Amino acid sequence: MKYESFDELKRACLICEKCSLCKTRTQVVFGVGNENADILFVGEGPGETEDLQGEPFVGRAGQLLDKYLQVIGLDRKKNIYIANIVKCRPPQNRDPQAEEQELCIDWLRAQTRLIRPKIIVCLGRIAAQKLIAEDFRVTKQHGEFIQKGNILFMGTFHPAALLRNPLNKPDALSDFQALREKIKELNIQI
Ligand code: URA
Repeated sequence: MKYESFDELKRACLICEKCSLCKTRTQVVFGVGNENADILFVGEGPGETEDLQGEPFVGRAGQLLDKYLQVIGLDRKKNIYIANIVKCRPPQNRDPQAEEQELCIDWLRAQTRLIRPKIIVCLGRIAAQKLIAEDFRVTKQHGEFIQKGNILFMGTFHPAALLRNPLNKPDALSDFQALREKIKELNIQI
């Protein structure tokens, strides 16, 4: 399905019943940010706070993400867009199943077509394995830029994983700094 505008796409997504996550969600978490951004961040799926508020990354992990963004001059209200692989919360925050991801990914594809980002940052294993390579290893490949078509992809640690394992925080910070360098190198105006 081709959507002419973001509003049209969002309206359709908000009433999606393609998979059974629709039965347990409070609301669809479509995405947030600048629809013309050059940089798109993709997480895995909404958690409890996101399901209640309808916005991605607004819980503790989201607050940490906002800090890393701020360090490199990025801001969800200004110059990036944030979305997830699945738009509805998996019960008990379990990993989204392969079938759920497959049924949901067309929404992200449609968002990507309209946003036309130059860089996509995958937050965590689920997003990196779905968008970059199915055998992607965050611990080994974080911070590497991989060109696919017109888009440069990079995978880094999921902020919730950093809350569980703060020892990886310096590596995550380096990834964000590498992103900042790439933005400069490509002359992307933010
Ligand atoms: N974790 C994610 O992957 N996405 C969110 O929106 C929140 C937490």
